Amino acid sequence: MTQTRDWQDKVAIVTGGSSGIGKATAQELAAHGAHVLITGRNADRLVQVTATQPEIRSLQADSADADSGKQIVEAALGHWGRIDLVVNNSGAGQPQPMEGYDAGIITKMAAVNITAPSQLVAAARAALKDSKGAIVNISTAVTRNAVPMLAHYAATKAALEHLTKSWAIELAGDGIRVNAIAPGPVKSGALTGMMGLPDEMAQQIEAQEAAQIPLGRRGVTTDIVPWILRLGGADNEWLTGQVLTIDGGWALRT
Ligand SMILES: NC(=O)c1ccc[n+]([C@@H]2O[C@H](COP(=O)([O-])OP(=O)(O)OC[C@H]3O[C@@H](n4cnc5c(N)ncnc54)[C@H](OP(=O)(O)O)[C@@H]3O)[C@@H](O)[C@H]2O)c1
Repeated sequence: MTQTRDWQDKVAIVTGGSSGIGKATAQELAAHGAHVLITGRNADRLVQVTATQPEIRSLQADSADADSGKQIVEAALGHWGRIDLVVNNSGAGQPQPMEGYDAGIITKMAAVNITAPSQLVAAARAALKDSKGAIVNISTAVTRNAVPMLAHYAATKAALEHLTKSWAIELAGDGIRVNAIAPGPVKSGALTGMMGLPDEMAQQIEAQEAAQIPLGRRGVTTDIVPWILRLGGADNEWLTGQVLTIDGGWALRT
């Protein structure tokens, strides 16, 4: 996809930028000339990314912490004085059978998938208004269907999709566009990291998912990242409140 936006000296925040979709997004933005602030909990993994591109800086921050949004915005403004794009990418989700429902796990999913993007957007609003910037929320294609065992992951991401629509209206007067991307199964650290699955089970699930995808393979980050830049760029002047499913047709299956 052609990138028509000039990202030179623009500023982006990518939460969860030390692995997978977030890392690839940060690296692509930086390759186009943007300054990027990435966040994550593990400091070593953040350094591995910032070491590769001087345009990328990091803030060790857990999205589950209530103050993280304010701290992230302060760090970005402190470094570069503006914010053009916020990518709410960090996510929480793990399989839970109903007999093992754990209030702490459910609360954490809500904190990372709903509360953290809300507080980051609120904190970044004034800067995004100044830049006529954009917000891209990362949801998941599992919101499209019932998902036993992943119900709270899907429900909290569905909430993020709803917030996307509401924020699109609330922020339209400020010239800020708000959209979301709902990826299908993408090769990343999510199954063994976020979902906490053992390697062998992760491999089984990857094979099952690949067999279910009409276009015949699991996704890779390069299937997703160009759409984040396209929705997040200044050349997207008239698209807001939309959720774009990018999943090889996975969610269309019956
Ligand atoms: N991969 C898929 O198949 C897929 C499909 C649909 C949607 N998604 C969504 O895409 C997003 C990115 O996932 P991914 O697949 O790229 O996962 P990933 O490779 O596991 O990367 C997750 C990133 O988020 C960070 N992170 C996780 N929890 C965090 C927290 N509480 N606070 C701050 N940072 C946190 C991780 O770093 P630390 O662990 O060091 O904090 C890491 O940088 C998520 O929102 C996920 O729900 C993924």
